Amino acid sequence: MHDDISRQLFDEQRIAQRVSELGATITADYQPLIAAHDQIVMVCVLRGAAVFAADLARAVKLPVEMDYMCVSSYGDSATSSGTVRIQKDLSTNIKGRHVIIVEDVVDTGLTLKYLRKNLMSRGPASVQIAAFLHKQHEGQAQLDCRYIGFECPDEFIVGYGLDYAERYRNLPYLGILKSEIYS
Ligand code: PRP
Repeated sequence: MHDDISRQLFDEQRIAQRVSELGATITADYQPLIAAHDQIVMVCVLRGAAVFAADLARAVKLPVEMDYMCVSSYGDSATSSGTVRIQKDLSTNIKGRHVIIVEDVVDTGLTLKYLRKNLMSRGPASVQIAAFLHKQHEGQAQLDCRYIGFECPDEFIVGYGLDYAERYRNLPYLGILKSEIYS
């Protein structure tokens, strides 16, 4: 384990198993919805969700189109204001299509609340959310997350796409960062 990690939450094998379960559920749910000529549109929210999205897309046994958005919250990084700026928008038109927003973590829930509303305004057939981690966070925005990988504590979690100061995203497991690293 990396020296900066105090405790491992989920190892590589457990993550792979859970992603495979999510992929099977999504496949079963969307099989009847996806017309012969169409694909699920997975919207990966950069950058944290890139690792999860790459694995999840391959665990879904239906045609999947992958697109990407990059967003950032206004205000300081410690308190999410709920106002989100789109830094990179979708390349594809989602009108009439089935969309799954793929996120690494739901914290305050404000990013996903904004994103879902934004994508819904573009006239898709449906928008669901797949979040790898769902943090126990007081006052979290009301959000219907159809697919959740793991519930997790409100701690500083890194690995499997999640970073601290752009580090640790490539750790293959999820771990809790030692507090002396960020305090
Ligand atoms: C993280 C995460 C979500 C958002 C969740 O992104 O990837 O997009 O915060 O927080 P919320 O539920 O409080 O809105 P971050 O801004 O750290 O960027 P990153 O994906 O590039 O790491």
